Amino acid sequence: MKQTKTYYIETYGCQMNVYDSELVAGIMERESYLRAESVEQADIIFLNTCSVREHAEDKVHARLGVLKAQKEKKPGTIIGVLGCMAQNLRDDLLIRRPYVDVVLGPDSYRRIPDLLNERLAPQEHIVDTKLSRMEVYEGLFPARREGVGAWVSIIRGCDKFCTFCIVPFTRGRERSRTVESIVTEVQQIVAEGFKEITLLGQNVNSYLSEGVRFPELLEIVTEIEGLERVRYTSPHPQDFNDKLIAVHATHPKVCNHVHFPLQAGSDQILERMNRTYTQSHFVALAQKMRSAVPGLSITTDIIVGFPGETEADFQETLDVMNAVKFDSAFTFKYSPRAGTKAAEFKDSVPEDVKQDRLERLIEIQRQHTLEQNEAHIGEVHAVLVEKDSKKSSDQHMGRTRNNKIVVFDKGSETTGDIINVRITGAGGITLFGELA
Ligand code: 5AD
Ligand code: SF4
Repeated sequence: MKQTKTYYIETYGCQMNVYDSELVAGIMERESYLRAESVEQADIIFLNTCSVREHAEDKVHARLGVLKAQKEKKPGTIIGVLGCMAQNLRDDLLIRRPYVDVVLGPDSYRRIPDLLNERLAPQEHIVDTKLSRMEVYEGLFPARREGVGAWVSIIRGCDKFCTFCIVPFTRGRERSRTVESIVTEVQQIVAEGFKEITLLGQNVNSYLSEGVRFPELLEIVTEIEGLERVRYTSPHPQDFNDKLIAVHATHPKVCNHVHFPLQAGSDQILERMNRTYTQSHFVALAQKMRSAVPGLSITTDIIVGFPGETEADFQETLDVMNAVKFDSAFTFKYSPRAGTKAAEFKDSVPEDVKQDRLERLIEIQRQHTLEQNEAHIGEVHAVLVEKDSKKSSDQHMGRTRNNKIVVFDKGSETTGDIINVRITGAGGITLFGELA
């Protein structure tokens, strides 16, 4: 039977969710469901959700409130909650939001067509939050949006159990895809016209399949004809070794940018976070990378106000920032997540102290970002053209190998070209340039 139902997916949270949404879109389109232009037009609405901080869950709850009103106007609408919140809050969601029809955790997407077929005949809620030790969605091809860059998941789950993090509970155990399936997917991506890929995993450098570890996988992927740039996110400092640094230093397709999550600077807090490295190890690794890889940019994630964090501990986070001079940072106030070890720690930091530390940290990072960006003025960079700039259709925006956004007046180049741009100025996060 020809499918006439339409679907719409809204994605919250990390890049793995962006990838998973494309995977779900691929599954839906294989079953001939049509992509709706907007959420209002859709028969089936999926929210692919994140639980990493309370704020992320609050946003989805607010959104579900809006969708409830939509469903009242159009009663046949199916509302599905996918991803980490589905996994984390399953029963709570069903009780608080009885109009949600489908609740699926991150390992249950293969079952979507069957589940929807059951559901399209009126019935009970559909719930599947069984985590799998095996599911890596091999053999499914995500329906990607057009663009120059594509995401490729290589490892799912996380076994690190940082004490603040819900991810090991919502996404389950680590499992890697085979090299063969990754290579096949990248070849297909290149054939579709993408120039750049980002290898994805909660812990991308724990990758291990049939003896192949992450640095070797990177080398294998760089050999794929037609692929121009390879990025990856996020690595864990614990699994960052000399071999990986050497791959950065020797393979021009491997971009000179590393997202290197610090989380905190003091050894005492790092220990309580179960991060398994010390401040000095982290700083030494960052310095080693910067000296081995020309023009490397390093970005990071930092949490302030972890339980027990004193002003002196916080100062040590600032010390690391001053030593490494990150190119940019995602900064967060610690948000307790029920079920994690840190949620049981009693010595929580008051909200106003967290806020004050966050603001101080953001200000320091702002200066570092500007400093790092200004250092590029006068240099010529290879820029992969992505699209028109937000401000003007007379300008293009693209990215340098070290992941800086550059805006410049258009010449004869088109999207997907790699061209030389001379950097002429640096704004908050954006570089400005001219064709060189
Ligand atoms: N509170 C605040 N930030 C968190 N992160 C993960 N868990 C929490 C939490 N409970 C941050 C970490 C991680 C990023 C994706 O989100 O910095 O690297
Ligand atoms: Fe969470 Fe730590 Fe795993 Fe990252 S490494 S997903 S922060 S538990």
